[in-house]
Amino acid sequence: MMTLSAPLLALLWLVQVVCSAFPEEPGPLSSIPTEVVRKYPVFLGRPHRSSLRQEPLHIQRILQVNRTLYIGARDDLFRVELDNVVGDEMFYSKKRTWESNKNDISICRMKGKHENECRNYIKVLLSRQGGLFICGTNAFNPLCANYTGDTLEMVGETVSGMARCPYDPKHANVALFAEGNLFTATVTDFLAIDAVIYRSLGDSPALRTIKHDSKWFREPYFVNAVEWGPHIYFFFREMAMEFNYLEKVVVSRVARVCKSDMGGSQRVLEKQWTSFLKARLNCSIPGDSHFYFNLLHSTSPILHLHGRDIILAVFSTPSNSIPGSAVCAFDMEQLASVFDGRFKEQKSPESIWTPVADELIPKPRPGGCAVQGSKFNSSNSFPDEMLNFVKTHPLMDEAIPSLGQRPWIVRTMVRYQLNKMVVDTNAGPHGNRTVLFLGSSRGTILKFLVVPNQDNTAPNNNVFLEELEGYNPEKCGQDTPQARQLLSLTLDSNSHTLLLAFPSCVVRIPVARCQLYSRCMKNCISSRDPYCGWTRGSTCSFLRAGTRLPFEQDVDHGNTSYLGDCDGKLTLGSPFLASPPIPKTHRTGFCLGYPASGSS
Ligand SMILES: *[C@@H]1O[C@H](CO)[C@@H](O)[C@H](O)[C@H]1NC(C)=O
Ligand SMILES: *[C@@H]1O[C@H](CO)[C@@H](O)[C@H](O)[C@H]1NC(C)=O
Ligand SMILES: *[C@@H]1O[C@H](CO)[C@@H](O)[C@H](O)[C@H]1NC(C)=O
Ligand SMILES: *[C@@H]1O[C@H](CO)[C@@H](O)[C@H](O)[C@H]1NC(C)=O
Repeated sequence: MMTLSAPLLALLWLVQVVCSAFPEEPGPLSSIPTEVVRKYPVFLGRPHRSSLRQEPLHIQRILQVNRTLYIGARDDLFRVELDNVVGDEMFYSKKRTWESNKNDISICRMKGKHENECRNYIKVLLSRQGGLFICGTNAFNPLCANYTGDTLEMVGETVSGMARCPYDPKHANVALFAEGNLFTATVTDFLAIDAVIYRSLGDSPALRTIKHDSKWFREPYFVNAVEWGPHIYFFFREMAMEFNYLEKVVVSRVARVCKSDMGGSQRVLEKQWTSFLKARLNCSIPGDSHFYFNLLHSTSPILHLHGRDIILAVFSTPSNSIPGSAVCAFDMEQLASVFDGRFKEQKSPESIWTPVADELIPKPRPGGCAVQGSKFNSSNSFPDEMLNFVKTHPLMDEAIPSLGQRPWIVRTMVRYQLNKMVVDTNAGPHGNRTVLFLGSSRGTILKFLVVPNQDNTAPNNNVFLEELEGYNPEKCGQDTPQARQLLSLTLDSNSHTLLLAFPSCVVRIPVARCQLYSRCMKNCISSRDPYCGWTRGSTCSFLRAGTRLPFEQDVDHGNTSYLGDCDGKLTLGSPFLASPPIPKTHRTGFCLGYPASGSS
């Protein structure tokens, strides 16, 4: 007799959870053939068609400012005019090389780093007072500088990139300017041990998180930062400290600091945040056995949707679990209110984490912002007792619930992991449709229509409109998993295109492909694509917001029962339009057959 091992039992349990708890996941209404996608324009780091590029690009960051796209790569910075694209390639109008000097490179090599690591990878690329603020890893000796936006020339001296930019190009970091201060989240040292949220370069004093305190950070991976009200919010994931498990568990978090923080007293938290608090993000599928998506990958900016300020976030399961991704929404009001709730603590290293009793919380409330005109008008004057409490209790007890307490979109048992997203909240002819574009670890783009439900919480009738492979191996070069890693997904609403940044290229893809449904009205209507409508002259046209064109569409129902079938001859141009959703055979197979063959 064979006994099942503990991991196998755990897996069996997970399979049961997944197969019972996960909602149905219909396939896309249209799968776009690669021939269509391969025609879209690509940026390859060339000034014109006849030039050659010897070296791969190693793109790190892109930044759109009005009609200009800036691309930060390894040792190079490019400027591309978004309105000057003709044909199938985007060329740069300006290129500036910023290499590390010989001395920095030789020190980097002496410290045992590889030649490829001892280069200048641009990891911070921000717009600043008409120009650019840029930081590069500079051969493990990070530097920052101002650059002009038009000619891409460095202005003034370089400043240290320490605590503003990682040393290692592989590390995730975030940066933003708010009220003239630079807020960064990164690691400050060569060995990448000291993680930090840091404020600098403005009129306010420089502040940081406590060094080497695992209550504040434990191997964080920073994803995004946003300004909202008096705070800056940082989204990240890290090793949990609040579970008494033996194994390491990663959880997703949001932390916040007050923009007006001046640091603590001379005795406690001097030159450190007095307002740093963090809470867990709860993106899970409710049910008998709760299923969590613990790994945060990216977030949207704050969106104003259905009268709320919300933020959307893409999560996945860890690699040793059932492969799955989810999009959860968080209401900023609800999110902020968790920071007014209870604090979590561990009374002794052996005890479990519990909420702190209200009567033990000092006054004024720890983690708050100093209020002008009050007794405590600056954080320097906060009592030591309160500062000591913040220092030792950065974690909130409650997790931030997702809007509607379930994900907006779930994808499980698919080959890819979702990790990027961008939202168009002004889609369609009336500019009132919400379309969500998701990007995967292998360059797949998924397009969803978000259909609000009655109480505007967790719409579960979202429509999976399109799926396409965004990476173009023919033009971008290699076809490896690394090459297909989507670095960022942005929307240029002016030209109705998506910009997909990969390490070796940027691909520009229209938000819709209405012409594919042009042969037949039934295909156009059943696409349910809010960007497309059947217009005069019997064609399926792209509909700009505020269009005057008379059109027909049925985004809500895609009802075509009144229309005859598309004539076989006419639909030849779009044979991929399999109207019934693509069956999810792989998933059914998993739920029925697994793991019967795994016991050999
Ligand atoms: C960079 O530009 C900002 C704003 O224009 C200015 O305040 C700052 O001094 C500049 N820094 C350097 C190093 O030139
Ligand atoms: C804070 O209050 C003190 C008196 O309590 C006053 O002297 C000081 O100017 C105030 N500071 C600010 C920044 O308002
Ligand atoms: C996450 O939210 C669900 C409700 O959707 C709740 O049942 C669960 O306890 C929450 N988890 C945490 C850690 O708060
Ligand atoms: C969008 O606006 C149009 C015209 O004002 C209206 O008829 C339609 O119901 C709106 N759709 C949604 C989803 O709000």
